[in-house]
Amino acid sequence: MRIKSGIEGFDTLVEGGLLQGRQYLLSGTPGSGKSTFGVQFLAAGALLGEIGAYVALSENIGTLVEDMLRYNPQIDDMIKTKKLFFIDLGPTINYGEYDEMSSLITPDYVQQSGDSLVNQPPTPFSVFKEVENQIKQFGIKRLVIDSLSSIRFASKDIASEERSISRFIRNLKTLGCTTILLSELTNPDAYTIEQFASHGVIFLHNFMDKQGSMVRGLQIIKMRGTKHDCEMRAIEFSDKGIKVGKLLKK
Ligand SMILES: Nc1ncnc2c1ncn2[C@@H]1O[C@H](COP(=O)(O)OP(=O)(O)OP(=O)(O)O)[C@@H](O)[C@H]1O
Ligand SMILES: [Mg+2]
Repeated sequence: MRIKSGIEGFDTLVEGGLLQGRQYLLSGTPGSGKSTFGVQFLAAGALLGEIGAYVALSENIGTLVEDMLRYNPQIDDMIKTKKLFFIDLGPTINYGEYDEMSSLITPDYVQQSGDSLVNQPPTPFSVFKEVENQIKQFGIKRLVIDSLSSIRFASKDIASEERSISRFIRNLKTLGCTTILLSELTNPDAYTIEQFASHGVIFLHNFMDKQGSMVRGLQIIKMRGTKHDCEMRAIEFSDKGIKVGKLLKK
């Protein structure tokens, strides 16, 4: 079954929508529209009665919701009626009393405060367990995780990092949610384990053209089981969020 993405101009590029229950990777440069795409996808589901959750691992939820309300004031109601959840699973951001004291009295405070339990960064396993609980408790059908990059570096070495990310995505597949995993796009030519492990891969770009104007683009790299568009398309931001526009000339 195909579900509506909530992004104007996108569904026609992928035979009518995303496949229900699959895991998609949305990888983009800074400020390219990853969070906006993710929230629009969840809000579109909430309107149809599909409960959605945005799991934030690095972004502050308060400011994210504030920004997204500008595009869609209905989000407020969706949160109140438990159709839309914003879940903060990031590490404790604020420095506490202990950090300040230890910076004065111990030279190796980074090691001490950084390793204390409360400051432990989220890992693929801890995030999966928490997400699994929330999905069961609230009947979540659409999920956005912001971002995979935040838990990518939780492992000691690259081999175990790749194993744990691949395992994380495989385990997410058992939960029955349609999931968009956000990730930072640093090198579009470097193939990552999450690109292979996901059912679909979408890139969001923003770059300067030769005239010095910002160009925003979307490109579908992979979409299993789908005849999809492969071109670079323009992304437009409006008062209602983002939409996919015309073909970008090469
Ligand atoms: N009201 C608005 N109208 C038009 N464009 C906007 C508006 N609000 C934000 N933007 C654009 O959206 C961008 C941020 O989008 P978004 O937060 O979805 O990107 P992101 O890829 O998640 O960013 P990050 O890498 O910081 O997580 C801003 O940098 C700005 O260019
Ligand atoms: Mg973001």
